[in-house]
Amino acid sequence: PLNFPHCAITITRIVTKFVTLDGTTVFPVLISVLHDGKEFPNPTEFDPGHFLNEDGTFRKSDYFMPFSAGKRLCVGEGMARMELFLFFTSILQNFKLKPITDPKDIDVTPLEKPGGRFSPHYEFCVIPR
Ligand code: HEM
Repeated sequence: PLNFPHCAITITRIVTKFVTLDGTTVFPVLISVLHDGKEFPNPTEFDPGHFLNEDGTFRKSDYFMPFSAGKRLCVGEGMARMELFLFFTSILQNFKLKPITDPKDIDVTPLEKPGGRFSPHYEFCVIPR
């Protein structure tokens, strides 16, 4: 939910309400967007349905912002998206992923830790096709 900290280099107005002074460290908090209850009905749960249309096709959401927003957003976003696409499509095209337990027993509840919510560790078999 937290973005990387930034340092104001001058008197800066954020939105219209907050004024920060030169040298103030600012932590942008993205939680109001990432946890928007209208956009994501179960905002604290891992729910792939948040990104699917009723017919199962992909639904892009502007509320999902892993690369942040604004002037200092990630400059590597295009490259990262391309890499992730190549990485995952290569795996899915070349390997069969088999869970070691019954998929029903896999717990996808995120781990609550200081600084955020993290996915649990999983073990699975990667079998060449
Ligand atoms: C899944 C992969 C990645 C994620 C989720 C990610 C996410 C982020 C986030 C959240 C920021 C902070 C934006 C802000 O402070 O407002 C950032 C900054 C940055 N990222 Fe990434 N990033 C990824 C991959 C990459 C790659 C592959 C590169 C370079 C090839 C890269 C280069 C940078 C740089 C240079 C900044 C600092 C930009 C600035 O401060 O103006 N990132 N990234």
